[in-house]
This record gives sequence, C-alpha cells and structure tokens, in this order.
Amino acid sequence: MHIQPNAELKAYNTFGLSARAGGLLKILHTGDVHEVVSSGLHPLRILGGGSNILLKGDVEGYVLKNEIKGISIVDENDNNVLVEVGAGEVWHQFVLWAISKNLGGLENLALIPGTVGAAPIQNIGAYGVEQESVFHSLKAIDLTDGNEMIFGKDQCRFGYRDSIFKHELKNRCFIVSVSYLLYKKNYTVNTSYGAISEVLKSKDVHNPGIDHVADAVIEIRRSKLPDPELIGNAGSFFKNPVISVAQYKLLKELHPDIPCYSAGEGLVKVPAGWLIERAGYKGIQKGNVGVHKNQALVLVNYGQGTGQEVWQLALEVMAEVQNRFGIQIEPEVNVW
Ligand code: EPU
Repeated sequence: MHIQPNAELKAYNTFGLSARAGGLLKILHTGDVHEVVSSGLHPLRILGGGSNILLKGDVEGYVLKNEIKGISIVDENDNNVLVEVGAGEVWHQFVLWAISKNLGGLENLALIPGTVGAAPIQNIGAYGVEQESVFHSLKAIDLTDGNEMIFGKDQCRFGYRDSIFKHELKNRCFIVSVSYLLYKKNYTVNTSYGAISEVLKSKDVHNPGIDHVADAVIEIRRSKLPDPELIGNAGSFFKNPVISVAQYKLLKELHPDIPCYSAGEGLVKVPAGWLIERAGYKGIQKGNVGVHKNQALVLVNYGQGTGQEVWQLALEVMAEVQNRFGIQIEPEVNVW
C-alpha cells in the first residue's frame, strides 16, 4: 500500500483546482481496498476521474483514486451481452469499446467525462438516455467493514443525477466494477432528443446506427461543452430544478418563453442553463473563473482560479436565480 502524503490534487480534477489531500492512494485491485480497510486509515474519500467535483479547499484524510481496470463479457444470449467493467475505466473508452463491437445502449452517453465507477453514483445521463437504462448491477466493498456487496438496479434507487450512493451510502461504498446489459440485436437507437435528430438530418442519415448516434452526440457535446483539457470545468455545475406545474404557470406569465420538460405527475423540470442565462450570467468572467459562453450550466476555471472563487461564483448565481425566479437551484457536482 503506497500512500503519497500531502498530495497535490490539481492533476486529478477536471476543474484543474489546486488542493492538497492528507494522503493519496491509487487503488489498482480489490486487494488494495481490503488493505486500506484493515489498516484503519480514515477519513476516506473516493475519487474517480475527478470530473464531477469542486475542491473548495484542502481535503482532510485520505483520497482513494480508483484505477481498477478491465472490460469483459461475462454472459451472452441471442439479444444481449452482459459486460463487467472495472470501475476505474474511463467511461468514454468503455463507450468506444461498445461501439466498436456494435453493442447498443451507451451511444447517447458518448464523451461524458469520468470513470465507469462514477456513472451509477450520479446516474449519468445525456441526450435522452440515463445509464440506468442499461445498468445491470455493481460490485462494491463496504469501507466500514470490508464486506463485498452486490447491488441490483432497484437497490441503487436511481433518480435524476441521483442514487443511494449520494445519500445513505455516501463515501461508504468503494465501487469495484459495474455490469451493463448491452444490446446486440433487436435494438432501436434513441434519437428523440431534438439536437440529435437535427444533426442526423443535416448529414442525410435516415437509418441511423449506433455509430451515427455516437458521432452526433460527440459533435453536439463538442459544440456546447468546454473540453476540460483546454478549460477547467466539471460539466453541468447545477442540476435542472424540478418545480410544480402551478409554479411554472405563474413563471410563464412573466416569461412566456421559459422552457420545460415533464418530470412526472404535476411536476416539470426547467433548464437551469436558461435561468442562469436570463439572470445575466452566461459568458461572464469574474477574476479567474466564469460561466461558460455556450452553456450557462457550466462554470469554468480559466487557469489560475481557486476552489473558493468557483464556489463564490456558484453562490452568487444561485442567489440571483432565487431572486429573479424564486427557484432554488443546487449543485450537481460534489463539493469537497
Ligand atoms: N439553455 C439556455 N441557455 C443555456 C443552456 C441551456 O437557454 O446556456 C436552455 C435551452 O432552452 C435549451 C435547454 O436549456 O434548449 C436545454 O439545454 P441542453 O440541451 O444543453 O441541456 P441542459 O438541460 O442544459 C442537460 C444535462 C447535460 C446533458 C444535456 C443533454 C443536467 C444538469 N445537464 O443539460 O449534462 O449533456 O442535458 O442531455 O441535467 C452534465 O451532467 O455534466 C451534463 C453536461
């Protein structure tokens, strides 16, 4: 077990924020996790690709960096393939693997930053699909006692950018691998999201395959979302708020063009990007940080920003949206 003391985390978060952890441990195998548990080190925090966190400051205790790799087909029938993936695999590499084998189910989730182990925690989703639609199960180790656990889909309690791992099991389960049930036959691609059908139409693709949809998604993401390699960010910083239809109707009288998506009985989801843009924050820069010019949901670090600067901007944006629309938006990223 190698512990890197007083470790700089800048290279391990896509915001590119500088912060130190008491210790950093790279986890390559399940045995490493058992060693950590029996050593009694604490407190422990788990880091995947670092693409969904804001480091407000230094991190107390030990950070476990999940680097467990491997993609293997563990079962197969005429229609489906069950694939078990090491939680430390890069999500997009897994999506590319599936596309190269013409396996369906992940193509709308192409180019999402982060690791496979983080995908179920926040139930990643994009362009009309969430990972829960192909999720089968996951294996985890309980950091309190070292017990190995298997979670089926129902036990994960998936919701919009949500799961049990963000609530009562927060920081408690070290996810080792995730299994997905992908399609090899009898599969229809999902092109319901407006932007996907527009791209396909512009390319004269009439019977899109898995690869066409993935290419369209990649094109859309590249046009709207900043590349973390070039400009520090953690994707959507906020969740899209869910409000009552009654509240939405009142807002629509004042703002006739306010968009919404249905979110279950009597509820609608409003794009936080629209609210933030209307609050006047799209594209603004405050010191070293700002709100992205093409997608107001994304906060960015222009290079030398600090976690405190990003957090102050987030608080300001939240207060202004509350002030203008009476809607409380909340971070989607994990704030450490
Ligand atoms: N909009 C604006 N201004 C903006 C951004 C958005 O007016 O600056 C409005 C537009 O009306 C647009 C609508 O919001 O039509 C929806 O925008 P978009 O399609 O970009 O989606 P989103 O709701 O802003 C969500 C996810 C993204 C995901 C896209 C596509 C959340 C928090 N974000 O964004 O996820 O890629 O849908 O499915 O749900 C992420 O989680 O990191 C992420 C990027």
